[in-house]
Amino acid sequence: EGTILRRLDSLRDRTRTWRRRGEVIGVVPTMGALHEGHLSLVRAARADCDRVIVTIFVNPRQFNSPEDLANYPRTEIEDAAKLAPFGVDVIYVPDGDQVYPPGFASTVSVEGLTQVLCGAHRPGHFDGMATVVAKLFAQTAADRAYFGRKDWQQLQVVRRMARDLDMEIEVVGCPTVREADGLAMSSRNLRLDAEARARAPSLGAVMRDMAAALRDGAALTDLLPGAHARLAEAGFGAIDYLDLREASTLEACDHATGDTRLFAAAWLGDVRLIDNIPVSGE
Ligand code: PAJ
Repeated sequence: EGTILRRLDSLRDRTRTWRRRGEVIGVVPTMGALHEGHLSLVRAARADCDRVIVTIFVNPRQFNSPEDLANYPRTEIEDAAKLAPFGVDVIYVPDGDQVYPPGFASTVSVEGLTQVLCGAHRPGHFDGMATVVAKLFAQTAADRAYFGRKDWQQLQVVRRMARDLDMEIEVVGCPTVREADGLAMSSRNLRLDAEARARAPSLGAVMRDMAAALRDGAALTDLLPGAHARLAEAGFGAIDYLDLREASTLEACDHATGDTRLFAAAWLGDVRLIDNIPVSGE
């Protein structure tokens, strides 16, 4: 089980048969280097759907630097072994030309949501992400797609895209899976050395304290200087953002009213960590 397919026509042979039988297809899009966060999405898909496709594609168009793309972990054999117990129907690992054929010229661009937070620091990232996700939705003909709240902004962008472009797919958001010390799991955590790994949980700790203060009525602007100081003390370098936003529109807020979340992106050495947590609502 967990047949690896690398070509779109062989994937379509399967999905056509499944759809003819009325089976519900779930897709879990990933870039591989699978960890328990990804596997939690596979588990949710397996529980909900008749057929489950996991896609593994390190999408060059959503990377901002050639080094980040080159350093991204590629662990296909281990990934297939981790998926084996779940009984996924297909692991789709498309060859590059199956996603971007010669002459490829189209881009999916979602306005507004992609201009803030990570969008402001990673030009082109969300266009590259939305384009590949649109393609993976079309290629897999899935009824449901599973995404992590770890990448909350990505989840909102995908929802907006699916709604705007009338994609007949239900986008399901799943909880962030964390290490025992609270660090949100991420494929990029593999690149933290022992010292950086020990410092990394401070990001979540600072965010949890900020969220508690915000719930007590504090203003974000009053909390930011102290939070930045704590992160610097914990060994963090640049803080790309530390921000309170309305959960679905991502509009900026100074107080926790309505459904708000706290978002952070910060550098530990040459590794960029992101996290987000609910403040009010949810
Ligand atoms: P990747 O970073 O591999 O993540 C694949 C999916 O796993 C995303 O939906 C992400 O939010 C989810 N995920 C990652 N870490 C998680 C965690 N700790 N807890 C819960 N879910 C987690 O996100 C991408 O790939 C790409 O942008 C992709 C959508 C595949 C398009 O290329």
